[in-house]
Order: sequence, then C-alpha cells, then structure tokens
Amino acid sequence: MSLHHLRQKLLSWYDQHRRELPWRPSPSPYATLVSEFMLQQTQVKTVIPYYEAFLRRFPDIESLARASEEEVLQLWQGLGYYRRARYLHQAAREIVKHHEGEIPIHDVKALRRLPGIGPYMAGALASIAGGKAVPALDGNARRVWRRLLGKDDPRLLKAMAQKAVDPLRPGDFNQALMDLGNLICRPKKPLCPACPLWEICRTRGEGNQPSPRKPPRPVSRPTLILRRQNEVFLEKRPAEGLLGGLYGFPALPPGFPARRLPRWDYRHTFSHRVWEVKVYEALAGETGISLEGQYVPLQPDPPLPLPRAFRPLWEKLWEEAAEEKDDESPEDEG
Ligand code: ADE
Repeated sequence: MSLHHLRQKLLSWYDQHRRELPWRPSPSPYATLVSEFMLQQTQVKTVIPYYEAFLRRFPDIESLARASEEEVLQLWQGLGYYRRARYLHQAAREIVKHHEGEIPIHDVKALRRLPGIGPYMAGALASIAGGKAVPALDGNARRVWRRLLGKDDPRLLKAMAQKAVDPLRPGDFNQALMDLGNLICRPKKPLCPACPLWEICRTRGEGNQPSPRKPPRPVSRPTLILRRQNEVFLEKRPAEGLLGGLYGFPALPPGFPARRLPRWDYRHTFSHRVWEVKVYEALAGETGISLEGQYVPLQPDPPLPLPRAFRPLWEKLWEEAAEEKDDESPEDEG
C-alpha cells in the first residue's frame, strides 16, 4: 500500500469513527494548548469535565496568564501530575509576554522553548492548530506504528511518522492514529478485523504485548492533623517533587508528640507508589512546628488546592465538624 492509500484509509476511518471531543470541532490554538496539556498522562474521559471547567474559568490565554498559580492549581485538583498545570500557566505567561498573546503554532522550535512543551506536544499543536505537516507521536500512535512496521526502533518510527503525515490534514492524520490506537489497536486484545490498516500491518497485533507494569510500591506516610479551634493546618508543599506547590496535611515530623488515630488510616495509590497513610493528631501550640502553610477553617470544599491524596482526611474532618455543629444546634420543636 502506498502512503497515499494509507492516508486515505486512515482518514476515511477517522471521518466515520473519530471520538467526538469538546476541543475537536474547529480547534483554536488556545483550546488545543489546554487540552494537550491535560491529555498528557490522563485519559480522555477524565479530562473532559476538567477541560470544560477550565475553559469556562479561563476562556483565553490572557485570563490564564493573569491568574495566580494557586487558582490554576485549584482547577487542576484531582487531575494529578500538577507540574503540567504549573507549566501551562508559565507557558501562558510567556506567550503573553514574548509572543503578544499568540501561541506560536507555526514554529515548532518556538513551541519547544515554552515550559512543559516536548516533541509530542509541539507536534500536536503545530499540526492540529497550525496545520503544519509534522508528526505527533503519543503512546497510542507509537504503538500503531510499532505494530504496523513490526519494528521497535524509535528513530525509524519517527521517520515513518514524518514521511506519512498527510500534508493537507496533518492534525486529523495525527489524531486518527491516536484514536486508532485507543479504539482499535489497543494494548491488549486489539480489534484487528475492524482496523482500516489491517492489510498492511506486519504484526496484526501479535507478539506485541506491553511489558507488565510494576505494581506501585507501598510507602508508610505518617500524617499529622494539626488543629486550632475549628481550623486545621495545611502545609504548602515544596514546588518540586510529588504534588509540588499544592497543599496537604504535613508528614508527622520525627519525635513530634501526637495522638495516633488508627481508625482514620487509609491508602492512596499514585502511579508508582501507594501511600499507607497513618493518621496522628495534635493541638497547635503543643510543640512548635515550622512548616510553610496556613490554618484553614473546615468547610465542605477545602479553600486551598488539596490533591486527592488528602481528600479522605479532609472529608472526615468536615463530617466530624458538621456533626458537632448539629449536636450544638437547638433541636426542632414538635
Ligand atoms: N491524546 C492526546 N492528544 C490527543 C488528541 N488530540 N486526540 C486524541 N487523543 C489524544
């Protein structure tokens, strides 16, 4: 099959079977930027409600650039991999400052200089929003090429992807490979009979299973609830590292006098580790503690960006506080 046929088969499959996604009809550069940042590491169905809320709150690059990092992180809460949110925010600021608010969608090198934009994302932005014939190889597209060619050499895959990309519909071509990888050429049990490229596929899904992922490693995480009247202490986590820049219940400092609350323990699974959260509590002022952060009042939704890993504790604290309030309020008559 010639490249011409491959493009035709793939694009006509895409025209019939593509996923209808909120950022796809007439994609603006800004919508593409936000969606691609969110889609790195996260599945489409998880991203959709976050994307919609994000665009309602920050409808354009200027509003995003003006926001504080904390506001951006707040909207990202629950989506994970928070570094992406910080990079997106920094990229928006750079675009406003150095590119007069125009995302440089026609210039792959300029895209690559922006924070958080690697080869995949630069290719996605330039092809989808800029109409430039460059490849965008995410994990799905890479698997399609690997199986089609029966080869696993990254340089070869990239060269093929560059050669094959449709010059008239490069964004659709790249997204067609991503959709094909997601819907048909799946990691396990690919649906080869439904594949538009079955005729030219070297492997037809065989012998190409991904290596099994290592299970996440359990790590004990002694965690401190530090109370002050109706408030609890949330630590601002260091910018680098796990959940960087977000807030959380602090790790129990070694030797800190605190009561153990074993019934509050829970587990939280990250991609590479499982926190076995062991809960302790203490009252403010019992011993000095010097952590960056602040005391916040208990309320249904935390007033600061609090990632999922800490939500079970927040929810329990709030339930407890709400029950206490009920106990204090006068009983209904009659
Ligand atoms: N994954 C990342 N970007 C995507 C896109 N534009 N379409 C489908 N899947 C994607």
